[in-house]
Amino acid sequence: MKNNYFLKLTARLLVLLMAVPMLSVAQNDLFKAETEIKINELIRQMSLAEKVNMIHASSPFTSGGVARLGIPEFITSDGPHGVRAEHGRDWELDNNIPDSGTYLPVGVCLAATWNKELGYEFGRVLGSEANYRGKDIILGPGINIIRSPLNGRNFEYLSEDPILVSKMAVGSIKGIQDQGISCCVKHFVANNQETRRNTIDVQMSERALREIYLPGFKAAVQLGGANTVMSAYNKFRGQWASHSHYLLNSILKKEWVFKGVVISDWNAVHATPEPLWNGLDLEMGTDLSMMQNRQYNKFYMADPAIKLVNEGKIPEYLIDDKVRRLLRVMYKTNMLGDLKRIQGEYNTTAHRQTALQISEEGIVLLKNENNFLPLNKKQKRTIAVIGFNADRKQSLGGGSSQVRAFYEITPLAGLQNIVGKNVTINYEPGYEVKRNGGANTELMNRAVAIASKADMVIYVGGSFHGYTHDNWSDNAYDAEDTDKPDMMLPFGQDELIKAILAVNPKMVVVMVGGGAMDMRLWINETPAIIQSWYAGMEGGHALARIIFGDVNPSGKLPMTFPKKLEDHPSQAMGEFPYDTSGLAVHYYDDIYVGYRYYDTWKVVPEFAFGHGLSYTNFEYSNLNILNENAKVTISFTIKNTGKLAGAEIAQVYVKPYQSVLPRPEKELKEFDKVYLEPGAFKTVTLQLTNDDFSYFDDLKNTWVMDPGKYGILVGASSRDIKLSGMLSR
Ligand code: BGC
Repeated sequence: MKNNYFLKLTARLLVLLMAVPMLSVAQNDLFKAETEIKINELIRQMSLAEKVNMIHASSPFTSGGVARLGIPEFITSDGPHGVRAEHGRDWELDNNIPDSGTYLPVGVCLAATWNKELGYEFGRVLGSEANYRGKDIILGPGINIIRSPLNGRNFEYLSEDPILVSKMAVGSIKGIQDQGISCCVKHFVANNQETRRNTIDVQMSERALREIYLPGFKAAVQLGGANTVMSAYNKFRGQWASHSHYLLNSILKKEWVFKGVVISDWNAVHATPEPLWNGLDLEMGTDLSMMQNRQYNKFYMADPAIKLVNEGKIPEYLIDDKVRRLLRVMYKTNMLGDLKRIQGEYNTTAHRQTALQISEEGIVLLKNENNFLPLNKKQKRTIAVIGFNADRKQSLGGGSSQVRAFYEITPLAGLQNIVGKNVTINYEPGYEVKRNGGANTELMNRAVAIASKADMVIYVGGSFHGYTHDNWSDNAYDAEDTDKPDMMLPFGQDELIKAILAVNPKMVVVMVGGGAMDMRLWINETPAIIQSWYAGMEGGHALARIIFGDVNPSGKLPMTFPKKLEDHPSQAMGEFPYDTSGLAVHYYDDIYVGYRYYDTWKVVPEFAFGHGLSYTNFEYSNLNILNENAKVTISFTIKNTGKLAGAEIAQVYVKPYQSVLPRPEKELKEFDKVYLEPGAFKTVTLQLTNDDFSYFDDLKNTWVMDPGKYGILVGASSRDIKLSGMLSR
């Protein structure tokens, strides 16, 4: 009897293993043959209604379980930079629950660190706090490509470059999932704008899809081992991304062998049969009024699905596959099975330290004429701090990624906390946040008055990260469900900055926001400019420490800052936010996103991709290229030639000298961040493979590497190339 059982078990294991010969290492993790047997046995015990109960929401942030069989609900929570406050079961905040969290710097600030290890640490904090708070899935990271500076959600995303996106995303996914929590990589795919996000039909070439928009997701699944992926709101080539056979079944599940769960964005499902057929596994957030009335059985993938199966119109095995995927993730994260979940931690010094380090490494020093910065704390002086964002807490801004922070150090508080007794700070907001508002003369005059009496000015302005309760969600600038009208500073800030400069040109301008702003009206008169993003709960300290030289800045831009909107490829070549029909947007900018455009078409940006200054200097030397069949090994030396310790981000670009199809001037392929004491040097060694020399040939519908010569460019930014060499492949 016993032998017979083992024979049967071995035979089943063999069949299962033969069925998945090509799994990538990370996805293999989600597919353990023994677990598959347990899962199949569970499914066999389930009624159709029980199965269907698992594939749609059971509350705003949970999916259904099967109590009879001990199958729990999935508890999900936003989001990308902190565990969101509780929403109970009906969108109400529950004030009796300790639901504050560590407010990490936003995605784009993390990407600006270019520090892969910090990506992991970022994820570790998220995973740990999610675990502590009893969450199973954290709805992040958000990794859509930053295609336009106007996208209201750029702050949540990472970069215009797919390699930088991939490397930072993989780190944070592993960080989250090593805590026994699932991540949910979002939004798959082409959700590069918020305008008409629920209806817009994104049209792009297969080449742009493959080269620019997909690589981050592919890395997330294959290298990061992401357990779940969130499908996007928008349409893709005429079909909802959440119903797309091509995206979900052909690419994600077949090509990339994804064994986890595809979760819809909240209210992104619009029918029953298509998502059932085409690869969506879990429907969330459909229709607020249904949710408020707890009518989850009315969701598309609820009673209507049962009906279609009972009528013989949809085969039950489609439902089984979705349930199988959900159970797989439950076993992997010990929601099922004999192993216990990790406990998780909450509000620890280590978590705060991670938030601080990310902001210190992610804030970017854009301009520093005649070493205007750092300031010396010992010098007695009065500083006028001006700007609404100096005194604004940002953690509840931006939409679903909002976090109820344990605390948040604003720029003003950060400066006050660190300046010591020699420095006196006076503060004025200088402008008011008002719908379609221009300059406010009274506020401006008060700001100019303190500026004229001060030794210098620290201006902290930029964008606006509206809160829902500001009643501003429609008109916020860096927020979900909205895009910016243009690249100009809102609320009369250009006028204000010019008025301050007229009385006191000793000014540091700090730009808070998700990305590029038009600075042409005052940039030449301003000696120092800092991009500080939304830098998390310790962001004010990080900024102050950079301004006063306790920290040497090392962040670099993860996207190009154009001089003006018209220079941007999404405007100059492509469409944004839609075509004349208002229904579709065509990505005619194609593969020329960000620096790929500026460098190929020789358009000079304000600040280049990868640009960021330090208080010390670095020298690059000794480029060596070892060109072997399987790989290319690149090494070079970086020396800190200045007087302060600091970190440099060295970027390796490949420049094709010949190509059957046109290609961008150069493309980032690798990078490294090196920390050096004054006078110290280090040899950086990085490896490239044939993939790094290839492009997607959409005539042949495959990746190709044209034989011939390639340049290897090592730079401090995409426009500051320090070393170059050549090789033939
Ligand atoms: C957002 C998602 C978010 C979800 C749940 C949607 O509106 O697009 O990113 O995870 O809401 O809050």
